[in-house]
Amino acid sequence: MRIFVAGATGATGRVLVPEAAARGHELVLHVRPQSRDKSPLGKDPRAKIFDLDDHDALTDALRGCDVCISLVGTMRNRFAAGDTYESSDIGSTRALAAAAKEAGVPRFLLLSSVGAGGAGAYLKMKGECERIVKDSDLRYTIFRPSVLVSPKGADEGHHGKRDDQPVMDIALRAMGVLPGLRGFSVDYRPIGIDVLVRTMLDVLEAKGTSRDGEIVMGRDMVKSS
Ligand SMILES: NC(=O)c1ccc[n+]([C@@H]2O[C@H](COP(=O)([O-])OP(=O)(O)OC[C@H]3O[C@@H](n4cnc5c(N)ncnc54)[C@H](OP(=O)(O)O)[C@@H]3O)[C@@H](O)[C@H]2O)c1
Repeated sequence: MRIFVAGATGATGRVLVPEAAARGHELVLHVRPQSRDKSPLGKDPRAKIFDLDDHDALTDALRGCDVCISLVGTMRNRFAAGDTYESSDIGSTRALAAAAKEAGVPRFLLLSSVGAGGAGAYLKMKGECERIVKDSDLRYTIFRPSVLVSPKGADEGHHGKRDDQPVMDIALRAMGVLPGLRGFSVDYRPIGIDVLVRTMLDVLEAKGTSRDGEIVMGRDMVKSS
């Protein structure tokens, strides 16, 4: 499959890119001009370097791809540097979905978050990203993990590693023994980025349209890993 990856330079992208390549996929990796010198992907022959609001460059890069995967996102502590929920998460989802449609890419995989659409600016923003994808007319699958944990030995990258969260993990495991709370506890438990990435690629490689329109929760990722 030919896969366009937005957010390739992030903590999740650093795990997904080598795993997808090892599975034999052809990759088109989006890199922002501002990150070209910060990430090894800046010199990667598979990289396309432009800003996502460059609609023509984005449409050209997407042409011929079988799927667009978005791993794009930001955090509050980056707002001062210019990346906000509106520009990074919502704006990128809007730009990617519109260009994918124009380029004839049939399918979109969105990395969202558990609780998307709930209370608070972050979850409301994730709900809006999901709405854009659902309303896009593209075939889609949405992934809603809890807190991400980088694989052991992962390098820092310019966005840092996602550290293990043992206290949160223990508390949620304990909650999971209560009747009726097992599924909830697994959905909210910290999850390995390697587990998430394997699930995303398995969904991508599933036959036909069986995973279209699905919202994949932590319990589904853990079950299939
Ligand atoms: N980390 C968690 O615990 C967690 C949990 C649940 C869901 N999520 C969601 O999962 C996604 C990936 O998380 P992560 O921790 O891997 O993220 P990350 O390490 O912070 O990486 C973010 C990626 O998004 C790119 N990006 C940000 N703003 C952009 C923009 N305006 N245009 C184009 N690219 C842009 C970054 O590119 P540059 O390198 O150029 O900055 C980078 O590749 C995010 O949507 C996040 O909200 C994260």
